Amino acid sequence: MHKVFFLVFSFFSLYTLSTAQPTFAKDVAPIIYKHCSSCHRPGEIGPFSLTNYQEASNWATSIRYVTQNKIMPPWKADPTYSRFMDENYLSDSQIKTIADWVDAGSPMGNPSDIPPFPDFPQNSLLGEPDLVLTFDRSYTHKGTGVDEYRYFVLPTGLTQNKKIKAIELRPGNTKIVHHALFFSDVSGKAKQYDDQTPEYGFSANENPDFDVFEVINRDQYPGYVPGQKPRRFPDGLAMDIKAGSDLVIQMHYAPWSVDETDSSSVNIFFADESEIIDRTVRDYIMLPFNLITGANSFFLQPNQIKTFEGVYTIPFDVSLIGIFPHMHYLGKNWEVYIENPDGSKTNLIKINDWDFNWQGGYYFDRYKIAKKGSKVHAFAK
Ligand code: HEC
Repeated sequence: MHKVFFLVFSFFSLYTLSTAQPTFAKDVAPIIYKHCSSCHRPGEIGPFSLTNYQEASNWATSIRYVTQNKIMPPWKADPTYSRFMDENYLSDSQIKTIADWVDAGSPMGNPSDIPPFPDFPQNSLLGEPDLVLTFDRSYTHKGTGVDEYRYFVLPTGLTQNKKIKAIELRPGNTKIVHHALFFSDVSGKAKQYDDQTPEYGFSANENPDFDVFEVINRDQYPGYVPGQKPRRFPDGLAMDIKAGSDLVIQMHYAPWSVDETDSSSVNIFFADESEIIDRTVRDYIMLPFNLITGANSFFLQPNQIKTFEGVYTIPFDVSLIGIFPHMHYLGKNWEVYIENPDGSKTNLIKINDWDFNWQGGYYFDRYKIAKKGSKVHAFAK
């Protein structure tokens, strides 16, 4: 009897010894360096750095709070529904390790156990860009408390057609830069709009003949939202950019109460000459026009919970490499899947707590095959 009790007790005490006293050096630093420091380091979008013991212990209580409540790291896609590359969320045991560490007074442990800090590239999340396009001038976003969508035209100076593997916005002023969309323009039209007024860039309102749909349905590259890690297209895949084209950026500046200036730049990464590009990536915008104009259009009564469904019929066989759900403040969740011609279902994405501030593009862990005639169903609630 005694023996059994003793065994149980020692098991218990061993257990507490090995898990209740995590240290920064051994247990917490690996989590923070891997899951937090990419954004929480100088020059990146996190509002403070988490790159060493001092910084992490200063923020210990907040770190416990944001990890327990799954606010940080920001990752919205439900991993039980579909899987993606670059997934960044903590497991329950990692969350507990952090909480236990904070509860224990955030001990350092043995400094020689601290893993080396990852070698992050400077001024990029991807590496050394092949082409950097920078605003000609800075632009002042007025502190009038309203959203502003402004187009900037950056000449690429390219003398030959190129294959783009990745494109990365480096926001000049992270307080106001909310998101950016990129298009290429070979017609020179965007530049003409810009030239009509002395201010840098132009707004769609200033140009009554400006057709936003004409622009966004043109060659569009993966856009930027805060927290979005750009990524290179997989081997053999790229997007085209033509010689002499302008890169047009549609910048969304968030409402702000005082004037703020911004001068952003764009890092562009091309395919190596040696890479054989056999497939071209295209962006399709599945705008639910039926919801905009049809009988079941976007009308929401006060206090009403309503699900909107958009359906898009795939026009030819494609491989889907990623998805970028977008809706505004009233939306709460998403589910998007393919209804295959044989009636089976392929999950694309599910977001259970939509957050306008943390929207992003998601790249599937493997291509999703969509045959001609498949229907993409997107439900937004
Ligand atoms: C994708 C970029 C990104 C990653 C990864 C990230 N953060 Fe953040 N974090 C931000 C940004 C941007 C903010 C400020 C905006 C906000 O609070 O939403 C922030 C805010 C915070 C705050 C302050 C919250 C507040 O209420 O003021 C804490 C604490 C924090 N992050 C901790 C973490 C920890 C811990 C991790 C890793 C487990 C992490 N972050 C991962 C970008 C990131």
